[in-house]
Amino acid sequence: MTTLKFTVLPGDGIGPDVMQVALRVLAKLAHKHALQLEYVICDVGGIAIDNHGSALPAVTLEACRAADAILFGSVGGPKWEKLPPKEQPERAALLPLRKEFKLFANLRPGLLYPELVDASPLKNERIPTGIDMLCVRELTGGVYFGQPKRTTTLPDGDIEAVDTMVYRASEIERIAEVAFCAARGRRGRVCSVDKANVLETSVLWRKTITAYAAAHHPDIALSHLYVDNAAMQLARDPNQFDVLVTENMFGDILSDEMAVVCGSLGMLASASLGAGHNTHKLPFGLYEPAGGTAPDLAGKNLANPCAQVLSAALMLRHSFGLEALATLIEKTVRDTVTSGTRTGDIAFGRPAVTTTQMADAILSRL
Ligand code: IPM
Ligand code: MN
Repeated sequence: MTTLKFTVLPGDGIGPDVMQVALRVLAKLAHKHALQLEYVICDVGGIAIDNHGSALPAVTLEACRAADAILFGSVGGPKWEKLPPKEQPERAALLPLRKEFKLFANLRPGLLYPELVDASPLKNERIPTGIDMLCVRELTGGVYFGQPKRTTTLPDGDIEAVDTMVYRASEIERIAEVAFCAARGRRGRVCSVDKANVLETSVLWRKTITAYAAAHHPDIALSHLYVDNAAMQLARDPNQFDVLVTENMFGDILSDEMAVVCGSLGMLASASLGAGHNTHKLPFGLYEPAGGTAPDLAGKNLANPCAQVLSAALMLRHSFGLEALATLIEKTVRDTVTSGTRTGDIAFGRPAVTTTQMADAILSRL
């Protein structure tokens, strides 16, 4: 019997509400397909600050180290916003987890079902068949982590802050490889986004990706856009993109734009894959919904659990090699939503269901 060993970090806000649903889905699948689930649930983020004094306690980190994957909810909220920035849940939990597990490849599928085009702020005639793209964001390099990173008071009393954007060719090649492989399973196109008209790191980025494509993936269609133009193109015609690959900060910004163009954040899953392999000889990964903690919905049984459920599907695919079960979850969520079961964020005036009603509907189809 295959054992799926993962650590569950529900976090704050709606995190626990939607995590419950993902765990119910996994439990039903495990029961039907003779899989053994072995997971521990640990505190992370604000709740970990409250219970243990830090956003990423040692016990949580240890549990993650002992697992083959992390299923993550969301962290942060108004209660912890007044802490010094370095101690806040986002910076003190999420970024250290990315660094610790070398989660360099962040995959964010931008998927808008044709039945849900109303959810997009774009005119529906621009996206008649919905949207299907993938953002591949480099996640452990660039200006997020580059040194020096500091704030100093200068001799004249002025204050100076410095962040450093730094990339090595090897970091660019390994994220390029992820993007090209993803494109191979899709429509065979990669658009690389940079700012090579201004930034040294972008000049290296473009040169490295171009050479890497020629040497290893000559059959994939590679194009390049400056990031300002890419932001505009994403709002103008998202379906010109198949796979978009970019550095850490550009990817942070563009993936939010992609998310809103695709309608509800409540539908967007993500995978952050590591350089290291787990005991299944597959990438260790952290899987999380993109929508954040939504404090106004927390504990009210109103949040859309789909993104968390879809993140669990990504975990089955990438960290456990269970492609068929991942596809089954994705199809079931899609069928449930397109047949009319919708939480408030995707209901558009039609009756909205609760989190548990959505969960029951998904489970009854599995
Ligand atoms: C994201 C988030 C994080 C980021 C924050 C919470 C640190 O915005 O995952 O996109 O900037 O990477
Ligand atoms: Mn972001």
